[in-house]
Amino acid sequence: GDVHFYDFVLRETNFTRLCSSKNMLVVNESLPGPVIRVTKGDTVFVNVHNQGDYGVTIHWHGVHQPRNPWSDGPEYITQCPIEAGSNFTYEVIFSDEEGTLWWHAHSDWTRAGVHGAIVVMPNNDTGFPFPQPDGEEILVLGSWYKGDVNAEVAEDLEDGSDTPRSDSYIINGQPGDLLPCSAENTYRWQVDYGKTYLLRLVNAAMNAELYFAIAQHVLTVVGLDGSYLKPVVTEYVMISPGQTMDILVTANQTRLGRYYMAARQFDSVRPDDTDYDQTNVTAILEYRGNYTPTSTPIFPSSLPTYEDIKSAIYFTDRLRSLADQDHPVNVPKNITTMMYISVAMNSITFDYEGTSRSSLSSSLNNVSWVNPTTDVLLAYYRNMSGFYTTDFPDFPPTLYNFTADTAPDYTTDTSQGTRVKVLDYNEEVEIVFQGTTVLDASEDHPMHLHGYTFYVVGSGAGNFDNETDPANSYNLVDPPKMNTVSLPKRGWVALRFKASNPGVWLWHCHLDRHLSWGMNTVFIVKNGNTPETSIREPPTYMPSCEASSPI
Ligand code: C2O
Ligand code: CU
Repeated sequence: GDVHFYDFVLRETNFTRLCSSKNMLVVNESLPGPVIRVTKGDTVFVNVHNQGDYGVTIHWHGVHQPRNPWSDGPEYITQCPIEAGSNFTYEVIFSDEEGTLWWHAHSDWTRAGVHGAIVVMPNNDTGFPFPQPDGEEILVLGSWYKGDVNAEVAEDLEDGSDTPRSDSYIINGQPGDLLPCSAENTYRWQVDYGKTYLLRLVNAAMNAELYFAIAQHVLTVVGLDGSYLKPVVTEYVMISPGQTMDILVTANQTRLGRYYMAARQFDSVRPDDTDYDQTNVTAILEYRGNYTPTSTPIFPSSLPTYEDIKSAIYFTDRLRSLADQDHPVNVPKNITTMMYISVAMNSITFDYEGTSRSSLSSSLNNVSWVNPTTDVLLAYYRNMSGFYTTDFPDFPPTLYNFTADTAPDYTTDTSQGTRVKVLDYNEEVEIVFQGTTVLDASEDHPMHLHGYTFYVVGSGAGNFDNETDPANSYNLVDPPKMNTVSLPKRGWVALRFKASNPGVWLWHCHLDRHLSWGMNTVFIVKNGNTPETSIREPPTYMPSCEASSPI
């Protein structure tokens, strides 16, 4: 593959949205940041110059980085932060990904401003598995906070209060016509009648699964998370934070005009108490040509309402891998490690200025993750003890039954730790995530694994049943491949992957609220037997972990 070079300059930049101004850390003064454009199999060197006020790392979401966890990015997992005033060059290695992915900061909530799209084009000789589109468009869905969200979150985590809600969503950096002081800058996508476009949609929102639709235009979803799908023809999509979708859109409306593209939070659980915005974020799809536009663009009537759980399930159930000759499916069939992981919101008791307080917490198998002071990767690679333990619980004491009247004690008050799971090279792994209602205070969980994509072989409502669910409902023929899967709060998902990428890889919920409260763990995949199957040598320069006392 080819080699590309990018410079990312991170600097506090002034933005005005929703009638007020603030400084925010972004890349190259733009929101969203620059697009990284490659062909399948290329390598990209990104030199990150941190000219901000605090340490930052950047993650290349969905890029497998074979044998190269050193450039994966999550802070205290694979590296320590790039300190203010210094720089670090990531080597981002593309292998089999094709389609849309994205990059974002992976420290605190900095990703609210530090994110952008990655476009991976197919090789010239293979091309797209659908007719060559006439054009391309990238829409990045994000969250806007009027305040300094990083500072607010840091305070909230310290004193135990809930983290801030966004003030609006944004499409390519803009809240759109329906929000205050925003109409002049609503994002516009200009199209020509009769042409078909490849729309690359990224959900970079901090805490919200989103419905998205374009008024009077059908969407044909052909890709998800950098893998191709059997085309799904739909009037709306549901996209989780972290996910990326490739969608064909034909500008086929003979009434040339302006049409709203709109996104709205999907939250079936507690719409009054979430990021749900009173008004929808919009952008405008605008036909080129000579006509007098109506004063108000048409709003998509197909956009589901925020509590519409049926439409979410109906959409995600239709996703299937393309599974043709050029895009074969290899679902692991000889599972060597089966894990059952309960995903819960909990409370935790802690000492705050001499008094005992309780606050929200999040956990996997009742362990709430605590970052070590030296990254797990370095500690593992250099055999340094005291930074993590290898006893992530495979199974909770009993399969969690969330329909029981009273939750078992162990799930309410979670324990804390830096407990990782170690896998042998090439193990065939199945994981069942079980959503719980330990505290009846959470949304679906977009669960994301670094370094891999996985096959989502099954999902369902209620408690997972090991006796009947695998036999009755697993799809091993053409399950969709994802790097982020939405786990229903009151349900389960089952996924499989082969542990063929040695390294240290983070698993986490892609809602930043939950990530901050510990809804993550780490998988260490050991080296294979040859140099070609082992973790690469670290780059000569990694940001140092100045405070490296054991936890
Ligand atoms: Cu999109 Cu751990 O990241
Ligand atoms: Cu979550």
